[in-house]
Amino acid sequence: MDKPKVVLGVSGGIAAYKACELLRRLTESGHDVRVVPTASALHFVGAATWSALSGHPVSTEVWDDVHEVPHVRIGQQADLVVVAPATADMLAKAAHGLADDLLTNTLLTARCPVVFAPAMHTEMWEHPATQENVATLRRRGAVVIEPAVGRLTGVDTGKGRLPDPAEIFEVCRRVLARGVREPDLAGRHVVVSAGGTREPLDPVRFLGNRSSGKQGYALARTAAARGARVTLIAANTGLPDPAGVDVVQVGTAVQLREAVLKAAADADAVVMAAAVADFRPETYATGKIKKQDGREPDPIVLVRNPDILAEVSADRARSNQVVVGFAAETDDVLANGRSKLRRKGCDLLVVNEVGERKTFGSEENEAVVLGADGSETPVPYGPKEALAETVWDLVTRRLA
Ligand code: CTP
Repeated sequence: MDKPKVVLGVSGGIAAYKACELLRRLTESGHDVRVVPTASALHFVGAATWSALSGHPVSTEVWDDVHEVPHVRIGQQADLVVVAPATADMLAKAAHGLADDLLTNTLLTARCPVVFAPAMHTEMWEHPATQENVATLRRRGAVVIEPAVGRLTGVDTGKGRLPDPAEIFEVCRRVLARGVREPDLAGRHVVVSAGGTREPLDPVRFLGNRSSGKQGYALARTAAARGARVTLIAANTGLPDPAGVDVVQVGTAVQLREAVLKAAADADAVVMAAAVADFRPETYATGKIKKQDGREPDPIVLVRNPDILAEVSADRARSNQVVVGFAAETDDVLANGRSKLRRKGCDLLVVNEVGERKTFGSEENEAVVLGADGSETPVPYGPKEALAETVWDLVTRRLA
C-alpha cells in the first residue's frame, strides 16, 4: 500500500525548529512527507534540514521544477496538509485565499483535511483580525489547533506557543484516520473530566483511586481532532497536555466540581470520565498524622462528596446540553448500568466491566454505551480512542 502523503507546511516563526520533530514522527510512522516551507521559514531552519529529514527536494516558490506543475500537484496528491507553525500572516493568507508562494498555492489546491498549528505572540493571536481568520478557516472545515500557554520567544509568557510536536502528531494521526469527513464538532465546546480525585488526609497522605486518565485524554484528543473547543479537567494524571486543549488541573472532588460547573456553563457536551471519590475524610490534619506507641489508630471518618454527574445532568446550563457518564461495574453490568443511568439523569452512560485485561491504566477498553432513549451501543475491545470516537458519534447525533 502507498504511504499516506502528508504536506508539512512551515511558516516563518521561531517554532519552525519544533516542526523538525513533527517531521521525524511523521516519517518514522510510515508517512511520505513533503515539506513546503515559506521563504521566511528558511531564516529559522534551512532547506538542507527539511530535505535531508524528508528525503524530498524542498522549494518555497512555484518557479522551481515548473514542468512538474508543483503548485497544483503537491496539494492535489496530499492526504493531509499540516501547517506548523502557522504564523498570523499565514492564517490571514489562507483565510483570504492568497497564493503568492508554493505553500499558499498548495493550500488552495488541497482537497484533503488541513490542520493549522498556530504559534505567535499572545497579542497577535488575540487580535480580532487573527481570530476572524481562524473562525473563517474553521468554518470551512480546517482544524485549527489552539496554541498552548507558556514561554514565548523572549522572556514573556502567554497563549501562543506551538503545542508539543508529539501532540500535534497525535492530532494529524486522528485527522488522517477520519479522512475527508467534516470536523463535526466544529463550533462546539465540550468539557471532559479525566483522572482520579485525591482526598487529602494530611500533608503527605490521601485517599485516591487507580484511574490513569487515559480514557479522558483520548476523549479530549479525539474531540479536538473533530474540531471542538475542548476543556479538559484533569485530576492527578501526570499526562502531557493534548494539543489544542485547555487543561485545568484539579486535585479533589470539590475542586473538580467547581471546575466542571464553571466550564459547563457554555458547553454543548459534558463527559464525566473522571473517577470521582464518593467520600472524603471529614477532617484534614494540618500536621502529619503520627503513629503512637501502644495506641490503636483513630478511625477515619468519611463524608459524602457531591455527585457532579447528577448535578450537571439535573441543572443543565443549556437545554440541549448532552451529558455523558462513565460507570465501572463488576456484576450485572448492564442492569446496574441501566439503573445508574436513570439515577444520574445523564443522556449516555459508558459502562465498563472491570476485570482481567480491562484494568485501569491500560491502552484498551471494552464497553457498552447505554442511552437514556433505551439504546445500547457495544464497543468491542480496542484502543481507548475508538471508544472515544463512538462516544462523540453518539453525542453529535444528539446535538444535531
Ligand atoms: N461521579 C461524579 N461525582 C461523584 C461520583 C461519581 O460525577 N461524586 C461520576 C463519575 O465521573 C462517573 C459516574 O459518576 O461518570 C459514575 O460514578 P460511580 O462512582 O460509579 O457512581 P455511583 O453513583 O457512586 O455508583 P456506585 O453505587 O457504583 O458507587
